[in-house]
Amino acid sequence: MGYNSAILDVVADGIICIDEYGRIMTFNKSAETMFGYTADEMIGQKINVLMPASHAEWHDTYLRNYSTSGKAKLIGMRPELEGKRRDGEIFPIEVGLTEAHHEGKRVFVSVVRDITERKRVERLKAEFIATVSHELRTPLTAVYGPLSLIKSGELGTLSPAVDNATEIAVRNCQSLMKLVDDLLDFEKLSSGRLSLDSRSHQLRALVGDAVLRNQALAGSYGVTLAQRGGSVDTYIHVDEDRFQQILGNLIANALKFSEKGAAVHVEVSEGADLVKVSVTDTGIGIAEEHHDRIFKRFSQVDGSDARSAGGSGLGLAISKDLTERMGGEIGFASAAGQGATFWVSFPRAIRPDPAVVAEGAVLPA
Ligand SMILES: Nc1ncnc2c1ncn2[C@@H]1O[C@H](COP(=O)(O)OP(=O)(O)O)[C@@H](O)[C@H]1O
Ligand SMILES: [Mg+2]
Repeated sequence: MGYNSAILDVVADGIICIDEYGRIMTFNKSAETMFGYTADEMIGQKINVLMPASHAEWHDTYLRNYSTSGKAKLIGMRPELEGKRRDGEIFPIEVGLTEAHHEGKRVFVSVVRDITERKRVERLKAEFIATVSHELRTPLTAVYGPLSLIKSGELGTLSPAVDNATEIAVRNCQSLMKLVDDLLDFEKLSSGRLSLDSRSHQLRALVGDAVLRNQALAGSYGVTLAQRGGSVDTYIHVDEDRFQQILGNLIANALKFSEKGAAVHVEVSEGADLVKVSVTDTGIGIAEEHHDRIFKRFSQVDGSDARSAGGSGLGLAISKDLTERMGGEIGFASAAGQGATFWVSFPRAIRPDPAVVAEGAVLPA
């Protein structure tokens, strides 16, 4: 056996080379095991046999386009596709593609990995998170209800010590509920099971609502929260609850990382095509070296910071995902010790949806 084919045969991934007409030239041992054909059977066959019908047609077109246009969109990428085994089973694969020249002809080398197991584990993980979160959410709600009733004093006057202890319990209960909700949202987003109900809304009203909802929180941090800008005839097309969730998270972060006595501003600025909402604080800021992981899930600059207690590090990851799903963009500017400005921008919606006009909910003043 030659040196090269010995190497090919010990590689754990399937290695399949084709010519520019899609005919198989090399089919290593792992490819044999994966697809259930022998190399002898496959050499000279078109690679389409190894794909479900939908991919097979697309692949022909792709190769044709490539030889005429020279545009190789997939080269160098690792797309997730589907393969078809000899017994007809369709299974998920990850494919790495490169182009090479062999005896003066163009050839394509694909490295194929069977990702059935990885997909199964991903699914299990998602199910696990969903189940655990649901199982936590129900009893938590049942703890929170009676606890806030006690705290309200309706069940009897509380001594200062009991009032204080109950306050701590209520607050931690809220943090835990928030964490469970974030986990649930995160799972829904990553499994694509989150549905959005987007409509046209007046931006100024949305922002006003967000500021109002967070006044109590601002009060608890001793920070003032104010709104600026926004004209009456600016609309954006978003899911209202999800937009509130995004802005709520940006505002909560700004408050959480501010000094007592500071101010947080929520400002609307309007361009010809895009409108932007910025949340600016004068708090601890984010050092340059942490910038690229701020939107990553479970990412907190300083997990030990007392101010991050109760946070999951999921808020911004969820906010980014939601914003992009609604056609917007999210970003920030910050330096250590110099506060931060987080912003979201959305395309202007031309005018309110008829349905919204009918309800009379957000007509321009
Ligand atoms: N306004 C801000 N000022 C300083 N740091 C911030 C600000 N907003 C977010 N961060 C940093 O980004 C991290 C992630 O934020 P987020 O995803 O909302 O998670 P959480 O609020 O649960 O910690 C925070 O823990 C903090 O380190
Ligand atoms: Mg947060």
